[in-house]
Amino acid sequence: MKTTLAVIKADIGSIGGHIVPSRQLIAEVESYVKKNGLEKGLLLDFNISHTGDDVAILMTHTKGKGNEEIHKLAWDAFIAGTEVAKKQGLYGAGQDLLKDSFSGNVKGMGPAVAEMEFEERPNEPFLFFAADKTDPGAYNLPLFLAFTSPMHNAGLMLSPAMKDGFKFVIMDVAYTEGDRIIELNAPEDLYDIAALLRDNQRFVVESVYSRGTGDIAATVSTTRLHNIAGKYTGKDDPVMLVRVQGAFPATGEVLSPFNIGHYVAGFMRGSHTGPLMPVKRNSTISYFDGPPVVSSSAYCVHNGLLTEPADAFDHPYWDYVRTNVSRKATEIRQQGFSGLAMLPYGELEYGGIVEKMKKLDGKFTVR
Ligand code: F6R
Ligand code: MG
Ligand code: MG
Repeated sequence: MKTTLAVIKADIGSIGGHIVPSRQLIAEVESYVKKNGLEKGLLLDFNISHTGDDVAILMTHTKGKGNEEIHKLAWDAFIAGTEVAKKQGLYGAGQDLLKDSFSGNVKGMGPAVAEMEFEERPNEPFLFFAADKTDPGAYNLPLFLAFTSPMHNAGLMLSPAMKDGFKFVIMDVAYTEGDRIIELNAPEDLYDIAALLRDNQRFVVESVYSRGTGDIAATVSTTRLHNIAGKYTGKDDPVMLVRVQGAFPATGEVLSPFNIGHYVAGFMRGSHTGPLMPVKRNSTISYFDGPPVVSSSAYCVHNGLLTEPADAFDHPYWDYVRTNVSRKATEIRQQGFSGLAMLPYGELEYGGIVEKMKKLDGKFTVR
């Protein structure tokens, strides 16, 4: 039996701005999925969590990737949650549901999706990541380091199971006519992979495969909301699934690069640069509508049944990292709007500044 692991997430409204969904909203999504997914036999198991203002539905089933019934279940659960958000007057109620009606697959409709299908190993540990106030390129550097660098992944030197390296599938997310992808192999294509992944807004790791076994190792939601809506409707806030141990990096090797707190796009109004802070599950958002955050839940799945999540960033070590990342956030904020502290025009969440520049342009004179 092949197990499908799927996570579908959306921002459908939150308390006090873009901080946290309400308990009632989360309870509604949970009871909808339980009643219409689990109890009807569509799902084998599920878990609901939130990271900042985004609600994620993690699901297991046997129907394969992109299954219409599963995607519709998640879409309808978000519609039900949106009703609660509207009733409570939450900010941004239903904001990630960009289309009026469901049409086969939530991809391209607003919610972020990451799915993988595999034959379960006798023990099947994996990590589920959810980020808020940033875009899918935020995972580029951590994935590059976890799957190619012996500085973070000692197993690349020590474990025969990883000796052949990994295949990266990288997507050009600026291309909207279809999925424009390239496949590159680590270690031989390392410099080419780096050359693409340096551009977090254009090239995004879509998936990673073990070259030894051919098995799927990691998958990322590649949705860029502004490419769907034609304008900014919020940051993409990507999710990611990573299988760990055995032919894959160890849990700690995948987590290791998250101690950098590398600077990513997002933060206030989705228009700034901020360090990615590893946070506990169900964390809220705060300083300057950020900083950009990422949570990591570790699970094992067996015959499609999930264990309870273990919170991978809930450990004293990560408190130390959070303090360092707070310092990095404060430092870049000290230069306010200047230079690299804000994103280039194409990535700003608001059209207002473009209008302003047009107006000012007309006032220029040439001496
Ligand atoms: C992401 C997020 C931000 C907002 C952005 C726009 O979760 O909350 O990217 O989408 O700050 O906010 P409003 O709607 O307040 O203009
Ligand atoms: Mg938001
Ligand atoms: Mg969000």
